[in-house]
Amino acid sequence: MRSMSLALPGCGMSEATSEIPPSDPFSLFEVWFGEAKASEPNDPNAMALATATPNGRPSVRMVLLKDRSHDGFVFYTNAASRKGEEIRANMHGALLFHWKSLRRQIRIEGPLEEVSEEEADNYFHSRPRNSQIGSAASDQSRPLPERRVYLDRVDAIAERYPEGDIPRPPHWTGFRLSPRRMEFWHDRANRLHDRRLFLREDEAEAWENTLLYP
Ligand SMILES: Cc1cc2nc3c(=O)[nH]c(=O)nc-3n(C[C@H](O)[C@H](O)[C@H](O)COP(=O)(O)O)c2cc1C
Repeated sequence: MRSMSLALPGCGMSEATSEIPPSDPFSLFEVWFGEAKASEPNDPNAMALATATPNGRPSVRMVLLKDRSHDGFVFYTNAASRKGEEIRANMHGALLFHWKSLRRQIRIEGPLEEVSEEEADNYFHSRPRNSQIGSAASDQSRPLPERRVYLDRVDAIAERYPEGDIPRPPHWTGFRLSPRRMEFWHDRANRLHDRRLFLREDEAEAWENTLLYP
């Protein structure tokens, strides 16, 4: 990797200029994610998910990355939730990882697709039974008159299925975001941050990349 010194006018400091490498962005993601798993105190797989209504009103919330491959980045949720409704109406999303312990950010954008029934079943039933019950009992994003109502629904499902797995509710599913744009950002001294953008028009295409001014 190229390295040299950069004199900063007026502040008498210098800064190594090694850049984020132009390697395959999926491989780069794996390297950074591996480092985040080693250094983040909680949920290194937590990412902000932005969706938008068809008329361009955005909303954002955290979700957990549960699977990843060259086909894309997968999270699971309730498709009848606010995000689910926005996704159904506008199958595009943006993901953001910010690992504070590493001072790094990754932005990922692209179209979304629903995972197969089989994938959704497999993941739902890999979760602890109590998590299955909690999800099945939740009308995610709908008004809840008081917490007791939710807890009663939890109890009712636990009684109805006294042991083993809970059937996956049909609206509980996963979505896969197929990246068209991936940007890696790394904090550097004196706010001379390092950014590399990878772009492709569709998933069959090779990635192009460029550095960006911070
Ligand atoms: C760290 C973290 C991880 C979360 N992971 C998920 C998740 O994987 N799936 C999910 O549906 N909600 C998850 N949530 C809750 C969402 O942020 C959000 O409250 C919920 O999905 C409802 O969002 P909506 O009303 O925009 O649909 C998570 C929240 C936090 C803080």
